[in-house]
Amino acid sequence: MDTLILGIESSCDETAAAVARNGREVLSNVIYSQIDIHTEFGGVVPEIASRKHIEKIDSVVEKAIKDAGIFADEITAVAVTKGPGLVGPLLVGVSFAKAYAYALDKPLVGVHHIRGHVAANYIEHPELKPPFLSLIVSGGHTHLVRVTDYDSFEVLGLTQDDAAGEAYDKVARAIGLGYPGGPKIDKISKEGNPEAYNFPRAKVGDSPFDFSFSGVKSAVLNQLNAAKMKGEEINQADVAASFQKAVTDVLVSHAVDCAKSFGEKRIALAGGVASNTALRAALKEAGEENGIDIIYPSPVYCTDNAAMIACQGYYEYMKGSRAGLDLNAVPNLKL
Ligand code: KG4
Ligand code: ZN
Repeated sequence: MDTLILGIESSCDETAAAVARNGREVLSNVIYSQIDIHTEFGGVVPEIASRKHIEKIDSVVEKAIKDAGIFADEITAVAVTKGPGLVGPLLVGVSFAKAYAYALDKPLVGVHHIRGHVAANYIEHPELKPPFLSLIVSGGHTHLVRVTDYDSFEVLGLTQDDAAGEAYDKVARAIGLGYPGGPKIDKISKEGNPEAYNFPRAKVGDSPFDFSFSGVKSAVLNQLNAAKMKGEEINQADVAASFQKAVTDVLVSHAVDCAKSFGEKRIALAGGVASNTALRAALKEAGEENGIDIIYPSPVYCTDNAAMIACQGYYEYMKGSRAGLDLNAVPNLKL
């Protein structure tokens, strides 16, 4: 019999719901993005995000059920992002999921947001099974993990300061591109020279697979300040392309070195920054040179969505994970 999981995601500024069959097949994927609202403020305003989630979650879930062509009571279980993320936004999803599961008398499963990002890879790669290595790069996280089982993760590297996406967003704001910065830097970089500036590629002490992006961010800001003091114009595209190259070089070299050290033959890229065209191309090329298979989700499954939560929720449900009505949001939930 098919297992249909309703996934709910509200950890940041996307109100999302989706239905997935047997952890691999997406029957519906509804995403209400609040980006336009937060753009005005140059970043996500948590209080506004919470209120918008409350307004939208009901209709988003209803649409996910309808688009899947099922009745609500046909779902097997409800899976919801319990953390990490912004506490207010998380609480909206968790509270809604609890009420929904209770009303339908269905099991509830709490899902880790980053595990969800990794699971996005299962949707379009039916052959993908643990173990594999995953590089998760999002607005809040930069992790290199070994996925030893569907519900078992070994962290091999993580950022010591800014997440990669956070650096993209801050640099974009500094060069006047606005929020969200990632897609804008990606686009404008195609017209720039990635060798125009030599921004630093940070190494973190004796932790070969850890990351640090605050140095490259500061180097960009210093470059901009220096230009301003001299009254010089900066070329936005050149700065963007050079910054992107510095970040991409580090992500790719760490991921490939890590795969080689652990004898892993496959890397699954995940998270919002995984939709970056330069990163996808550079990792693919490095993978080919080193005999490592590189996979990534379609862009719609890279940025926050609930299909990934439904897919990860399926595996956790099958392993027996169940949450009670005391499930709480955990903003700094560890992997
Ligand atoms: O995974 P995600 O939607 O949310 C978090 O869990 O954080 O990631 C959002 C991040 C933002 O920082 C955004 O600027 C970045 O992903 N991003 C990109 C691209 N698309 C989104 N960064 C670089 N290139 C892109 N094409
Ligand atoms: Zn995310």
